Formats: sequence, structure tokens, C-alpha cells
Amino acid sequence: MPATFSPCALMLGLMLGCGLAQASEQPAPSALATRQGIPRPAVIAHRGASYDAPESTAAAYRLARDLGADYLEMDLQRSKDGVLFALHDDNLQRTTDVAQKFPQRKDSPANAFTMAELKTLDAGSWFNQAYPDRARPGFAGLKILTLDEIIDIAQGNPQHKPGLYIETKEPQLFPGIEHDLKEKLQDRGWLSSAGSKLAKSELAVGQGKGKVVLQTFDKGSLELLHEAMPKVPKILLLWIAPGYIEPASGQAFASSGETDKAAFYARQQPKDPAEFKRWVDYAKTQGAIGTGPSATLTAGGEQSYADLVQPWMNQYTHDQGLLVHAYTLDDPVDFKKAMDAGVDGMFTNRSAELLKYLKRSSNASATQLLEASGY
Ligand code: G3P
Ligand code: CA
Repeated sequence: MPATFSPCALMLGLMLGCGLAQASEQPAPSALATRQGIPRPAVIAHRGASYDAPESTAAAYRLARDLGADYLEMDLQRSKDGVLFALHDDNLQRTTDVAQKFPQRKDSPANAFTMAELKTLDAGSWFNQAYPDRARPGFAGLKILTLDEIIDIAQGNPQHKPGLYIETKEPQLFPGIEHDLKEKLQDRGWLSSAGSKLAKSELAVGQGKGKVVLQTFDKGSLELLHEAMPKVPKILLLWIAPGYIEPASGQAFASSGETDKAAFYARQQPKDPAEFKRWVDYAKTQGAIGTGPSATLTAGGEQSYADLVQPWMNQYTHDQGLLVHAYTLDDPVDFKKAMDAGVDGMFTNRSAELLKYLKRSSNASATQLLEASGY
């Protein structure tokens, strides 16, 4: 028997329809970011201001802070004696003089060294040799930094307090690092969800509820981070490779026989749209508030990867109620491309450039700030 038409039934149907439509809609990215206390677009200083100063050192983090970056980004590792510190690579060769100081152990992973040993290394002089046009005598002898020391830097400028954007790097090498990180952040008062009045300004992200963002490429680590710190915003980093987002090519760079890494990655695509969506869905299911996809750089180079910031990808991610923070962009042409494609923040080695692009430049230049800090 057909349903009897009545105005009440029509009204009820419309209300239910509206309710269902509402439930499937997500807040706008700007509202999502505000809710999390994360500036939008977020300026994430990748290993500090690492174009202008040696990555992951006090010079790079102090400069990023003083320029006005929203977050100090770091790759977290743990020393042999249990101290959390920042280093990107899994060994010390590229960014320190380990080959001179510990020739027998130069290929050892960083976690085979105690913090006292790590502190004997020069983590600045390599930069002067690699980039003579940006070299400074004050960079020579810079030290590897503990998480405690980076927190001190984040808290050290009364005019601007950036947040911390912390990656668990190769977490399978550091069982329990998620718990250790929680303990440290708690001890230092960085897990309180309360924000100060100052935190209402985006210039005080380090005092607001988005003061810490946790990031990882590793699904297991995301789950452990969420278990340890359920209220802290988390980002699942996205990457195309076998075992991560499966590439259409089925190839990994290392076994591809190619020599041009940027060209290889520029050609990589997810094996199909559903594969990309599965990773976004997973991030959401596991409590992440966003994703951190790779980007292809116009100029190519070491940090140019697969283009996972295509407009449809960002749209899908937003449709799931998640933010998009892309890595790692340094040039205005790429800032514009990423912003036009809909990203909500960017990792950058060149905080000064990105802040200028966003019309948020500090009053002083990078050179002036480095000199003011004694470098
Ligand atoms: O954390 C994501 C971003 O930093 C890019 O990756 O290799 O530089 O840590 P990576
Ligand atoms: Ca990182």
C-alpha cells in the first residue's frame, strides 16, 4: 500500500533528509583548524629554518622561532642512554663529524651513541662546507639538540612562541618512544589542553591547544601515539612506495635502477584513487586530524617527491573532516600551487620565504636575526 501523503509527513521527511545531509557534511577546513588550535595556513619549520642554518640545531630552531614560524618541526630519536633528541637521518655521517670523532663507529645508527657522545659532535660545520654562500663561522661546532633543549627554544622568545611538530622517525627502532615522548611533554607542561588568553592569537600557537602536533609515516606508531596522547592532534604522513601508498608502477626507487630520484617520484601515482582514499580513511579511523602528503617541487631536488596534493586528493581529505599539511615546499611557485590545490599548511625549509608569501614576514631578516643571536 502506498504511503499516505500528508504535509506533516513531507515536513518530517525534509527534516530527516536535512539531518542526514548535515551528518555527512564536514566543517570547513578553517573551522577544523580553529577547533584544533592550529593556524591555517600553518607554517611548519622543517628541521627549523634549515635553508638558512644547519638543520635541527639551535641556530635553525631559534631562527624559525624568531621569524615567526608556527611550528618547529623535528624528527625524534632516542640515544643509547634513553635521551630524546632531534636528527633526521638514521646515522650521523651527513650532518656531523662522526667520521673524525668516532671513525670505527661512523656507520652506526645514531641510537648506538650515548647523549654525552652525541654532544661531542659538530653538527654545524658540514653546512658551511655544503653551502658556502650561507656559511657562518658561528655555525661551526653547533650541537645535536635534545627535545628538552628544543622545548627551551620554543619557550624562549616572549614575542613569539611556536608550537612543536614532532615526528616519530623510524619508530620500530625505538620501542616505547611514543610513551617516552608523552612523559617528556607532560613533564614540561606541553600536554595541557588549556590555552592562555594569548593563545587566541595565531602568533602564540605554542601556548594554545594546538601547541603540539604529532606526525608519523608509521601506522603502528600513529596508533601508539593516539593511545598515549588521545587529545593531541596527529598527522599521518603520506608517501608512495611499496608498503605505503602502493604505486601504480609497483616500483621502489631503490630497486628501480634510476638515478634521478626527483624524476622517479614525479612519475609515481597511487595504483588507483581507492588506494589513496584507504590511507586517508585509515588516518581518520585511527584518530588523526589530518594528513601530511608529499609534494613534487618545480625545481626538483632531494626533497621533491610524488604529487599527493592534487586537488581531488585534498578535497577527499577535507570531505573526511581532515586537514592537509604538505611537505616540503620552499619556493613561491610551489606555495601557490599547493595553496591553490587546497592545502592547509606547509612544511618548509625556508620559513622566511613562506612567511613572506603569506604576508607574515617578521620585521627583521633572517640575516639580521642570525646575527642578533650571535651566529
Ligand atoms: O615529517 C615530514 C617531513 O619532514 C618530510 O619528511 O623525511 O623530511 O622527515 P622527512
Ligand atoms: Ca620530518
